[in-house]
Amino acid sequence: MDARDLVRSVKVVGTARGLRSLRSAWRRRRSDAVGLPRRGPERARVPGPVRGADPQPGGGVVRFARSSLRVRVSAGGAVFCGWDGAEPEPSYALEGPCPDADERVRLEPDTDGGWRVVSERVTVAVSRTGAVEVRTPGGVVLRRDLPPRWWEPAGGPGAEGAPGNGGDGAPGNGGDGPRVNGADGAQVNGAGPGGGAGGQAARWEQRSQVAADARFFGLGGRASGPRLRDGTYRLWNTDPGGSFEPGDDPLYLTMPVQLVVADAGTHLVFHDNSWDGTVTLREGEEGAGSGHDRPGACRTRMEGGPLRYWVIVGPPARVLQGWAALTGAPAVPPSWALGYHHARWGFGDQEEVRRVVAGYRERDLPLSALHLDIDHLAGHRVFTVDTARFPDLPGLAAELRRGGTRLVSIVDPAVKAEPGGAVYDSGSAQDVFVRDSRGREVRGVVWPGEAVFPDFTDPRVRKWWGGLYAERLEQGFAGVWHDMNEPVSFAAFGEPTLPRSARHALEGRGGDHREAHNVYGLAMARAGYEGLLELRPEERPFLFSRSGWAGLQRYGGSWSGDVATGWAGLRASLSLVLGLGLSGVPYSGPDVGGFTGSPSPELYLRWFQLASYLPLFRTHSAIWAGRREPWEFGEQVLTHAAAALRERRRLLPYFVTLAHEARRTGAPYARPVWWRWPKDRALRDCEDAFLLGDALLVAPVLEEGAVRRSVRLPRGRWYDTATGRAYEGPGRVVLDAPLSRVPVLARAGAVVPVAGADGGVELEVWTPVRGREGGGTLVLDPGDGWDAPETVRFATRLRGGEVVVEREGAAEPGYPVRVHGRAPEERPRQR
Ligand code: NOJ
Repeated sequence: MDARDLVRSVKVVGTARGLRSLRSAWRRRRSDAVGLPRRGPERARVPGPVRGADPQPGGGVVRFARSSLRVRVSAGGAVFCGWDGAEPEPSYALEGPCPDADERVRLEPDTDGGWRVVSERVTVAVSRTGAVEVRTPGGVVLRRDLPPRWWEPAGGPGAEGAPGNGGDGAPGNGGDGPRVNGADGAQVNGAGPGGGAGGQAARWEQRSQVAADARFFGLGGRASGPRLRDGTYRLWNTDPGGSFEPGDDPLYLTMPVQLVVADAGTHLVFHDNSWDGTVTLREGEEGAGSGHDRPGACRTRMEGGPLRYWVIVGPPARVLQGWAALTGAPAVPPSWALGYHHARWGFGDQEEVRRVVAGYRERDLPLSALHLDIDHLAGHRVFTVDTARFPDLPGLAAELRRGGTRLVSIVDPAVKAEPGGAVYDSGSAQDVFVRDSRGREVRGVVWPGEAVFPDFTDPRVRKWWGGLYAERLEQGFAGVWHDMNEPVSFAAFGEPTLPRSARHALEGRGGDHREAHNVYGLAMARAGYEGLLELRPEERPFLFSRSGWAGLQRYGGSWSGDVATGWAGLRASLSLVLGLGLSGVPYSGPDVGGFTGSPSPELYLRWFQLASYLPLFRTHSAIWAGRREPWEFGEQVLTHAAAALRERRRLLPYFVTLAHEARRTGAPYARPVWWRWPKDRALRDCEDAFLLGDALLVAPVLEEGAVRRSVRLPRGRWYDTATGRAYEGPGRVVLDAPLSRVPVLARAGAVVPVAGADGGVELEVWTPVRGREGGGTLVLDPGDGWDAPETVRFATRLRGGEVVVEREGAAEPGYPVRVHGRAPEERPRQR
C-alpha cells in the first residue's frame, strides 16, 4: 500500500461503501496472490544475427538466430510487422479480416546483409540485427525501430510455478509463455495474442527513433496534449477517481497508437497489444546549425502480449483514412446527437427533469437530448427504474420527444450481486460474469454495492447484454452513455478495477484481465451497439463510452469523463477531444463547465462556446457540483450561451456533413490546425485552436479575463467570420474575443452548408482568392436510418470579380447562396 493508497483508504473508510471497497481491495489482492504467476527469474533475449528470409506476397519472414519478423505490406499501404510469429489476427482493433497483401512486393536482399520491401508508398528495411526502418518512397527515414528485447521466464515450462496457472485456459494456451524454438530460431510462439494466458508473460521493449523535429500525438484521450510532451504515458484504462486535470495520466481511454508528424512526413504506429504498458516519448532537438541533431525517441514497453505493430505513412488525412480502413469506419450518430445535450448527476425526480427541459423551452434554447444518470435507477441497478421518483418514464420520454428532446440513459457494466435481481439472475443462469482463477465469480464494488461484471470478451455474453437494452428502449430512451467501464471497481487501495488474474473468454482463446482490461470498454460498446441495432434495426444507435480502445469508433464516441472545473480543465478538454480524434475516435466532447465544483460565469461561458464547436456538445456535472443550466449564470451569460446554441443549430448541416466525412475518410470533425499543413512547425506546436472540418478555424478563449487573443493562421486567406475581414496566413493575428463569442475564421473559398432561417439548407460561401478554386460538400442526411445519403459537391471561384458557385453535375447550386468575406482588393458581387 503506497501513500496515495493510504490516503484513499483513510478517506473511504467509515462509509458503508468505504468498508465494502476496503474488503473488495483485499479480495482483489488475495485473488491475484493466488491467481497470478509470480515473476520468477527472467532471461533477456534479442533477435540475434539474421539467418535468412522467406519472401512471400507483400513481404515475407526474416529469420534471426533467436526470433523472426514478419513484414507484410497491405494493398492499401499499411505495413504489418510481427515478431516471434505474431500475426495480425486475432485482434480487437481490426474491423474485419486482415487487409490483403500488396501482391506486387516481396522481401528482397538489401545491400548490408539485411532485407527490404519496396512498395509504392513506403519502404521497409530490416537490418542484419533486426532494426526496422520505415522510409518514404524518396528514401527519407521516418522511423527506426531498434532490435526489440524480450524478458521471458528463465526456467522454461513450469518455472513460473503459480498455483492455478493456466486456470481454464485453452490447451496450449497456458503456462509457458513465448519461447524461442531451437538455436536456429525460426521462433515459435505458441500462444495467441495473450502471450501465454494465465502464465508468466514475456515482457518486451521496443525503442525507436524519429526525426529531430517530430512531434507526437495520439495515445487515446490524454489530458496534457494534444502534443505529447516528453514523459511516460501509461497504457492502462483508468478512472483517476474524483476528477482529473492536465498532468493526470493515464485516463479512461488509452490506446497504443501514436501519430508522429515531422517535416519528412507523417506516420502512425499502432502496437496491437492490449496489455499494460508504457510509451515513453522524448522529442528530439535540432543542432542549431551544427548538424548534430538529436533524434526524437520513443520507447514502448509491454508487460506481455505479442510484439506486433502497424505503420501507416502519408499525409495526415491519408494516414487517418488508412487507420479507419484498418480499424473500422466511425459510426455516424443520428443527427439529433449533433445538437445540444444537457446532463446532470443528481436529477431528483421526473419533475426536476421536466422543469429543466421547460427552462430551455421557455427561453427558446434548443435542447436535443437530456441525459439521465445513475440516480434514476432503482438503487443504482443497471436496467431498472426508480419508479418512486420516475413513475412514468415512457410517458416523460414521449412528452419530451414531442418537444424535440430525446432521453439518453447511462449504462454501467457492473450488475448488483443479489439473487432475485432480474439481471443478476438471468446473467448467473447463463454464466456470463467474470470468474477468478479458482472459478468463483469476481465480486467488486460499484454504485449499487457488491457487483459482478459481465465478460464482454465472450460473444455469448455480448449477445445476452445487448438484449437487455430492450428495457431501455421500452423506457423511451433514444441513446446510451456507457460509464465506469474501464472497468471500475472501487478499491480502498490498489488499482480500482478487477483483479488481473480474473479470467476472460477472449473470444474463446481464454486469458486473464491483464489482456482483457483495456478492451473491456470496447467489447461492451460492441455489445451495446449490436444489441441496439438488433432491437431497432432502422435506427442508427447512439452510444458513447467513457472507456475504449482502438476501434471504438465503429460503435460510437466518447467524452472527457470527470474533467476538473477550472481553466486548466477547459484546456484539458480540448486536448482530449483532439487526441481522441487523432486516435481514430472522432465523436467526443467535454463536460461543459467541468464535472466538479461551480465554474465562474466566465469559465462556464467559455467552456460552452468551445463545446458548441465540438461534436458532442453537452453540459454535465457531479451530484455535489453546481448547476449547469445556462440561465444559472446571469443574464449576460444566458444571452451569449443562447447565441452559441443558435450558431450550433445553424451549423447543424455542416456537422452532419462532417459526421459522414468522418465515416468515409476517418477524418475527425475537430482537427489540429496542422492537419493540412503538417510541415508548418509553428502549427504543430499550436494547441489552443482547431479546425472544424476543412472550412473553419475555431480559436476558443482558454484564458481567464481574455477579450482578445492571438491566433496562428495556416497558409492562405482566412476571414474573421464576425467581421468579414481577411487575413493572410501563415502568421499570427490578434483578434477580438469579447464575451459574446470566440474567434472563428473561415477559409477563403469554403462552402459551408448551414441552416437558413426557415430551417432549409443554405450555402455560406467565403470569397475565394483570385485564381484559386474553393469548394465544399453537403451530405443530405434524413437524420437517421441507413439509406446512403446524397452527397452534393460545390466548387467556387472568382470570375470577373464575381463569386461563382457551381454544383457538380448540375447547372445551379440548388440552394440559396450567401457570400461573405471581403478581400481588400476585391469587392465581390454575388451571382
Ligand atoms: C462517472 C462519470 O464519469 C460521470 O459522468 C457520472 O456522472 C458518474 N460516474 C455517475 O454516474
